[in-house]
Amino acid sequence: MTVPMLRERKESHSPLAMVTAYDSTFASIVDEAGVDLILVGDSVATVMQGQRNTLGVSMQDMEYHVRLVASVKPNALIVGDMPFGSYQSSVKDAVDNAVRLVKAGAEIVKLEGGIHVAEQIRAIAATDIPVMGHIGLTPQSYHRMGGNKVQGRNSGDVAGSRERLLEDAHAVEQAGACAVVIEAVPASLAASITEKVSIPTIGIGAGVSCDGQVLVMHDLLGLSPRTFTFAKAYADLRTTATDAVRQYVAEVHSQQWPDEAHSFQ
Ligand code: KIV
Repeated sequence: MTVPMLRERKESHSPLAMVTAYDSTFASIVDEAGVDLILVGDSVATVMQGQRNTLGVSMQDMEYHVRLVASVKPNALIVGDMPFGSYQSSVKDAVDNAVRLVKAGAEIVKLEGGIHVAEQIRAIAATDIPVMGHIGLTPQSYHRMGGNKVQGRNSGDVAGSRERLLEDAHAVEQAGACAVVIEAVPASLAASITEKVSIPTIGIGAGVSCDGQVLVMHDLLGLSPRTFTFAKAYADLRTTATDAVRQYVAEVHSQQWPDEAHSFQ
C-alpha cells in the first residue's frame, strides 16, 4: 500500500480495511491477514494500559508502539496516532511531533478534530507528512462530549452537530488530509460526508457507505471484556486464552505438566 493508492481506492469503490495494532506480533498477524492500513491508535490507553480514556497517552508511548509495529515492515500502511496534547497547543508542536512519529516508523499521522485543527493539518501536510483526520466522536474530546457519545444527531453549529461535522470534513479535506476517520455518527450522515469529500472516509460506527472501515483489534478478536454496538467480535480469543491458561494451571497443580515429551532425559 502507498498513500496515493488511498484515493485510487475511493475512486474505484474498493473499500479499505484498517485495524489497530500496538506490537510486532499482532502487527504481523493483521498484515498477513491482508489489512490495508494498521492504525497504532491511542486506544492503546484503554485496551493495553488499562486507562478509562485516551487522554493520558504520551508521545513516548506512541513512538514506542509505532516502532514495535514498524519493526515487522508490514505491507500495510502504518498510521500513527498523535496523542492528546501533542498538536493542540501550536502548529510548531504539531509538526515537530508528527516528525517524531515518522522517525519512529509511521507513514501517516492521524489527529482528531476538524475546523480547529485545520492549520495543524495544513502545516504537517506541507512538511510532506501524510495526515489522516478524525471527526465525529473524537475520544480526546472525552470531557467536552461528556463521555464517548454518538455525534451528529442534532442540527446546529456547535461541535458535534450534523452541520458542523460536514464543515469539519470539508476543513480537513481542504487542509490537505489524505483520508479521514468518521467515528460514531449516524450512517446517513457518514454517507453524505463520503459523497461530498474527495478523500477516503474510514468509518467506525458510521455505517457501510464509508470508503473503508476500522476496528480496534481487541474488539475484533474478542479479546477485550467490553462490547460496543458498532464493534463486531469475529472471534472469542478471550475465552480461548482463558481456557488455555486455566488448563495449564490445572496441569501444573496436578503435576501433569511437564509431561515426558516436553522434558529432557
Ligand atoms: O485510537 C484508535 O484506535 C482510533 C480508532 C478508534 C479510530 O482512533
